[in-house]
Amino acid sequence: PDDVGIVAMEMYFPAQYVDQSQLEEYDGVSSGKYTIGLGQQKMGFCSDREDINSLCLTAVQNLMERNNVSYENIGRLEVGTETIIDKSKSVKTVLMQLFAESGNTNVEGIDTTNACFGGTQALFNSLAWVESSAWDGRYALAVAGDIAVYATGNARPTGGAGAVAMLIGPNAPLVIERGLRATHMQHAYDFYKPDMVSEYPVVDGKLSIQCYLGALDRCYRLYKHKVHTVEEGRTSPLTLEDIDYCLFHTPYCKLVQKSFARLYFNDFLDAAKDDPKYTGLEAFRDLKLEDTFSNKDLEKAFVNASKDLFNSKTKLALLLATQVGNMYTPSLYSGLASLLYSKSAADLAGRRVGFFSYGSGLASAMFSVRVSQDATPGSQLERLVGSFSDLQARLDSRKCFSPADFAEMMKLREDTHHLAKYTPVGSVEDLFPGTWYLTHVDEMHRRQYSRT
Ligand code: ACO
Repeated sequence: PDDVGIVAMEMYFPAQYVDQSQLEEYDGVSSGKYTIGLGQQKMGFCSDREDINSLCLTAVQNLMERNNVSYENIGRLEVGTETIIDKSKSVKTVLMQLFAESGNTNVEGIDTTNACFGGTQALFNSLAWVESSAWDGRYALAVAGDIAVYATGNARPTGGAGAVAMLIGPNAPLVIERGLRATHMQHAYDFYKPDMVSEYPVVDGKLSIQCYLGALDRCYRLYKHKVHTVEEGRTSPLTLEDIDYCLFHTPYCKLVQKSFARLYFNDFLDAAKDDPKYTGLEAFRDLKLEDTFSNKDLEKAFVNASKDLFNSKTKLALLLATQVGNMYTPSLYSGLASLLYSKSAADLAGRRVGFFSYGSGLASAMFSVRVSQDATPGSQLERLVGSFSDLQARLDSRKCFSPADFAEMMKLREDTHHLAKYTPVGSVEDLFPGTWYLTHVDEMHRRQYSRT
């Protein structure tokens, strides 16, 4: 099949948040640390009413309803998550409840886990199925969801929560470019979850940032190389100018601006010594990539030099990341949702969108989407863009919780998330319409859900 990619997409985030400037005050850190230093405004979080199953149920059903897709028409369903509530039973099997009425049980795929990368692997697996001999003509569904929570301390403001569901098939408005996928995988203990009874990771924050930036360098260099070999007639290396929009996995927004600057630094190292575009940066010419992760002068110079490009290619895609926080596996795709909200179908038609996916431990990849040329009314692209038109309104309709109430909710999750039997106490009224929520966990840990 031709033009395999993302046909439709649904983004879910919780209906409640805590304000980051209030959190600064509550945590007793200097004013501006979370809002300016990390670039975060609000952080979405879940009460004990939501878990990974409910998040994914919500995203999938909303996608199917909004796009009028029938469950018989799904032949593969993949879930990427690092929010593990069962060491054996996959989230995928829980989602099969949604298929029950249709009678369709012929659905391949299960869950994939490695920190924030599982969603991208779910997407890759879905694409691979559609492009394979096993494909039977139906759509695939790639789902990614997580509840990102940290213990109290400096990582807590970098949490978030959400889920994305993507319908994958041929003749898509967002075509994943073939032959242009760059991967970097490596063993690292930067962020991991060895404690089976806790939702919180063990995290070496500084190392995780270094690992992220190192993986970014590796993927970008390989991506550039692949573009050079795949694109006929190309004589100069690919630069950021060749990518219309750049999306990144977003632990916090400031890291994305630094990452964008890092790509610009890579371009600079590839450029001719006398390229006037990089005037004023000559002092950084002879540095080695791997020696520069903590070079603040370099970081500052390249953030400054790449500011305009960052503003036009990436900043607009940080809407959900600033307003909800790090969703882990859906984070990169929240960038895509923000882009689809911020631009019209006509603006996007024919453009190339770059993606960088990172999951600690570590797994990372860079790939790109070519947006279809057809932005006419009624086109798939126009419908896809239209399905995000309510994004800001949904963000604005959320309920603000005080940091004290947020902390209490985190404590409640800590104390109860593994209990059986248990009946959640969080409010149901505050959830968005169409949200699945946990009603009861029985003495055999069997979970029951209902929908608002
Ligand atoms: N006003 C403005 N800026 C401020 C202020 C202030 N009042 N106070 C601090 N800052 C700046 C700092 O200068 C720093 O900027 P810099 O990064 O440009 O140097 C920034 O705010 C953060 O301050 P730090 O002291 O570096 O923050 P800290 O070390 O306490 O925590 C960290 C940050 C490590 C990111 C922590 O939140 C964390 O561990 N998060 C989870 C790990 C993570 O997200 N890793 C990323 C990749 S892996 C993944 O996706 C999970």
